[in-house]
Amino acid sequence: MRKQIVAGNWKMNLDYSEAKALLQDLFKLNKKFNPDTEVVICPSAPYIGVFAELLADHNWLKLGAQNCYYMDNGAFTGEISPIQLKSLNVEYCIVGHSERRDNFNESYDLLSKKVKALVNHGITPIFCCGEQLQVRESNVYREFVMKQIEDSLFAFTAEEIVKCVIAYEPIWAIGTGKTASAEEAQEIHGLIRSRISSQFGEKVASEVSIIYGGSCKPENAAELFAQKDIDGGLIGGASLKADDFCQISNSF
Ligand code: 13P
Repeated sequence: MRKQIVAGNWKMNLDYSEAKALLQDLFKLNKKFNPDTEVVICPSAPYIGVFAELLADHNWLKLGAQNCYYMDNGAFTGEISPIQLKSLNVEYCIVGHSERRDNFNESYDLLSKKVKALVNHGITPIFCCGEQLQVRESNVYREFVMKQIEDSLFAFTAEEIVKCVIAYEPIWAIGTGKTASAEEAQEIHGLIRSRISSQFGEKVASEVSIIYGGSCKPENAAELFAQKDIDGGLIGGASLKADDFCQISNSF
C-alpha cells in the first residue's frame, strides 16, 4: 500500500530560533497529527544536524532535506551528499524543485543522478515536476510533465522507482495562492500513475505515492486529497504554521 504523505518544505525561511520554535510547536501538536499520515519536515540545511537530535524521541515526525548532490564525498564546496544526510537520519530529500530548476539550472540529467544516489543510500527522493503558466496555457502541459518524469526517472528499475515519491507542483500555483483545482491536479496525477504503470507495471504504479504541491492549505487540502491519485501534499507556506500543517495532515 502506498503511503499518504504530508511534507513541509520550509524553503529558505526562518532563522535558527524561529525554526526551533516551529519544531517545538509541532511537538506540542504530536497527538493531533494524523497517525496514518507520514509527516515530514524539510528545514534549511544548517538546521538538519540539531533537528536530527531533537527528533530522536519523535519518530512520528520524519526529517527531510531540500536538496543534495549526487557524489558521496569529495571536492564539491558547498554541497551535501546523501551519505552525510543519511548519517543524520534524514529519510527524505526533495529533488528538482522548480525553484532549483529555475534558479540553479538543474538539468534532467543532474536530477536523475541525484535520485539514483539517494535511492542507493536509502533516502526517499521527493521528485518534483510541474509546468510554468505559459506551458499550461499553451496546452502542452501534459506532455511537458510526462517528459520531466520520463527523462529523469525512466532509466531506473522498478525496484528503484518504487522507492521514490513524486510531487506534482504546477509552478503557477506555487506561493501564488492560486491552487490547481482538484480536477486539474487529479488529471496530471492520474497521467503520471498511468505512465508509470505502462513503463513499470500496474503494481509498481499503485505503490508510488504522488503528492501535490502549490498553495495547498487547510481550506483546499481535503478536496485535493480526496482525489484517487493524490496521496498527500508538499506544503510550502502553510507548513510554516504548525496548526495549519497539522490540519492538512488530517485532511485525508
Ligand atoms: P506553497 O505551498 O507556498 O505554494 O509552496 C509549494 C511548494 O513549492 C512546496 O515545495
